[in-house]
Amino acid sequence: MGDRHSSPLSWVVLYAVIAAAAAAYFAVLCEGGSSSTFVRKVECSVDMPLDSDVFAIPPGYNAPQQVHITQGDHDGKAMIVTWVTMDKPGSSKVRYGESEDDLGFSVNGKHTRYKFYNYTSGYIHNCVLANLKYDTKYYYEVGSRHTGRKFWFRTPPEVGLDIPYTFGVIGDLGQTYDSNRTLTHYQNNPKVGQTVLYVGDLSYADDYPDHDNVRWDTWGRFTERSIAYQPWIWTTGNHEIDFAPELNETMPFKPYTHRYYVPYKASGSTRPFWYSIKRASAYIIVLSSYSAYGTYTPQNNWLLEELPKVNRCETPWLIVLMHSPWYNSYDSHYMEGESMRVMFEALFVKYKVDIVFSGHVHAYERSERISNIAYNISNGQCTPVPDPSAPVYIIIGDGGNIEGLATSMKEPQPDYSAYREASFGHGIFDIKNRTHAHFGWYRNQDSYSVEADAVWFYNRVWYPVDEWIISTI
Ligand SMILES: *[C@@H]1O[C@H](CO)[C@@H](O)[C@H](O)[C@H]1NC(C)=O
Ligand SMILES: *[C@@H]1O[C@H](CO)[C@@H](O)[C@H](O)[C@H]1NC(C)=O
Ligand SMILES: *[C@@H]1O[C@H](CO)[C@@H](O)[C@H](O)[C@H]1NC(C)=O
Ligand SMILES: *[C@@H]1O[C@H](CO)[C@@H](O)[C@H](O)[C@H]1NC(C)=O
Ligand SMILES: *[C@@H]1O[C@H](CO)[C@@H](O)[C@H](O)[C@H]1NC(C)=O
Ligand SMILES: [Fe+2]
Repeated sequence: MGDRHSSPLSWVVLYAVIAAAAAAYFAVLCEGGSSSTFVRKVECSVDMPLDSDVFAIPPGYNAPQQVHITQGDHDGKAMIVTWVTMDKPGSSKVRYGESEDDLGFSVNGKHTRYKFYNYTSGYIHNCVLANLKYDTKYYYEVGSRHTGRKFWFRTPPEVGLDIPYTFGVIGDLGQTYDSNRTLTHYQNNPKVGQTVLYVGDLSYADDYPDHDNVRWDTWGRFTERSIAYQPWIWTTGNHEIDFAPELNETMPFKPYTHRYYVPYKASGSTRPFWYSIKRASAYIIVLSSYSAYGTYTPQNNWLLEELPKVNRCETPWLIVLMHSPWYNSYDSHYMEGESMRVMFEALFVKYKVDIVFSGHVHAYERSERISNIAYNISNGQCTPVPDPSAPVYIIIGDGGNIEGLATSMKEPQPDYSAYREASFGHGIFDIKNRTHAHFGWYRNQDSYSVEADAVWFYNRVWYPVDEWIISTI
């Protein structure tokens, strides 16, 4: 619901007497979706200070820190483990096994470091644990004997049609007190996300003087409490570019690519910014809003070859992640995704993408199932229309970073926008089987189980009927 659908009758009567113009005006007001009337406390988001508990350095000389994992192959049988040692390289070995007391396997990784202006990183280790069993809990340990640190993760079930799986969806997190609330809410969500789809903009270190890369380290320590135990699937945002010619730092994505690894080669990609993975019953395509995507570019060529490979009899759910949204009705970043939409939207409709998650706009918004692909410059058909083959677009850039909420919205609410609200939160995309998935959006002000927005998704290939859009507020 929203104010648009609940105008008092007296207003209707008043407008009715003003004939055509007023009637048209009211019709426009009635068309859009709903804008939440939730009243939040207005407060700016403040980064947690360097001595915060969440940034604490683990005890012990050269102890591994910033431990994080992500899927390491195309099917879910490998995991990439990454961590940092600050004082000296130490060991790049991961010991792992199915029992906490018997880490019978081990694999040696590599380490690297980088400089950024006057900052020098620690030793960034990464290691691929391959040929794992599906749906199995593994314990793993990084670091040398005295300062070894132990964690665990569960591999996904084997890829298949009716495999339930629960994804968390987080974007634009940063490292403020609100970021910490978002992560806590995600971790305490009774739905228990098994893997995070992260839609870009990680640390916001570039908001500091000289892009102070110490804030990449603090972000790594802050998020370890989730990412050491479950994979986060990475998307590149604008805050990962770190292009700073004034500091003689002209290699885009330098800190990000040194710190966060993705299995891009496994999907035939040539750069880590666009790639795909399969996980349980989902096929996830990650695109880069900040890499070339025009015709003939590597990303464009890759996507053209990639989409026909998606076998919906194997992975019924087709999910796309990108940072900059195509359908956004906030003033913030309005139309920034337009050029990529023009390039790729017809493909998304042709291949029946179920859902597109984006970040960038620091708020939440869910679109109707619409497309805008009829336009050919001369036919004037430039308005989004309902389209059962089109994805639903969800903006979830509301992780809580230092730049604060995007509160200013386009009025009246456009038809393509089903629900929008500027509050911090996270999402859960809960796949039940080949036909049904449930999406919930959780705002930080509510208790852990409250869904501020909730929708059933019907699979576009297996059950392409109109969804009932059930908004719980
Ligand atoms: C880098 O330079 C800035 C000033 O530009 C200074 O404040 C900071 O302490 C320096 N950092 C290091 C690690 O030298
Ligand atoms: C961050 O959240 C955790 C978990 O709720 C809490 O223990 C910790 O004190 C918080 N830290 C800060 C700086 O807010
Ligand atoms: C960048 O490099 C140039 C040439 O080496 C040098 O003159 C300049 O001082 C450098 N700028 C910074 C900010 O380090
Ligand atoms: C544009 O589309 C219209 C119909 O929608 C069609 O009649 C026209 O020929 C198209 N123009 C071009 C240049 O393709
Ligand atoms: C798929 O899941 C939905 C929601 O849980 C359920 O209603 C439906 O019966 C399931 N379909 C099958 C074939 O089990
Ligand atoms: Fe962004």
